[in-house]
Amino acid sequence: MSKGKLQKFAEFDAFENTLDYNTDTKGHWHEIFGNENPIVLELACGKGDYTVGLAKRNPGINYVGVDIKGNRLWRGAKTATDEGLSNVRFLRIQIDFIEKYFAENEVSHIWITFPDPQPAKARKRLTSSRFLAHYRTICKSDAQIHLKTDSDLFYESTLETIQEEGLTLLENIQNVYTQPCAAELKEIQTFYENMWLKEGRTIKFLRFGLNP
Ligand SMILES: C[S@@+](CC[C@H](N)C(=O)[O-])C[C@H]1O[C@@H](n2cnc3c(N)ncnc32)[C@H](O)[C@@H]1O
Repeated sequence: MSKGKLQKFAEFDAFENTLDYNTDTKGHWHEIFGNENPIVLELACGKGDYTVGLAKRNPGINYVGVDIKGNRLWRGAKTATDEGLSNVRFLRIQIDFIEKYFAENEVSHIWITFPDPQPAKARKRLTSSRFLAHYRTICKSDAQIHLKTDSDLFYESTLETIQEEGLTLLENIQNVYTQPCAAELKEIQTFYENMWLKEGRTIKFLRFGLNP
């Protein structure tokens, strides 16, 4: 492992806005934030671009960026610290075990940004039925999933899951940069999104209800 990566792992724990799998967070998020504001997750957040970008726009909402890679989360934790954002936390865990870290009804909405498309392992996709079932155990009944992706495979397979499970599709944008949509979809760009845009890929967005 590179020296830079090791240093970021060490520094990650020192930030006041970071938590990991050792922390007893389940059912304690409102205490952690010190208020009763809604809690919104960004899953597979990487450097936490949406966590930070949305937190700046919506100070009355608490955002938790979730990813397994501490060196990537380091970037978001540093930016949120430098900018004095009190409504941001970063949680370093495997999303597969998300219900160990959030209680029933503790989460209002979920963002998923540029998840790995997992071409060979459909059940590992973060919008597969298996993962949606995990999210239902921690989300409020009216929770919505916001998905931003460059991957046709991920986009199509999510649409299939929405149909199979009888979920309500609330927004379906095939090209974020040519179609009208919320400003935050164009104005906040993630690290991976920037790479894919340089390659000329089309960025898609889906918003759907988590429960039928
Ligand atoms: C392609 S990157 C996207 C990162 C960021 N959202 C962006 O757009 O720049 C996918 C991220 O998902 C994380 N990831 C994938 N599967 C995960 C899992 N089961 N639990 C936690 N993190 C996961 C990876 O560590 C990686 O940072």
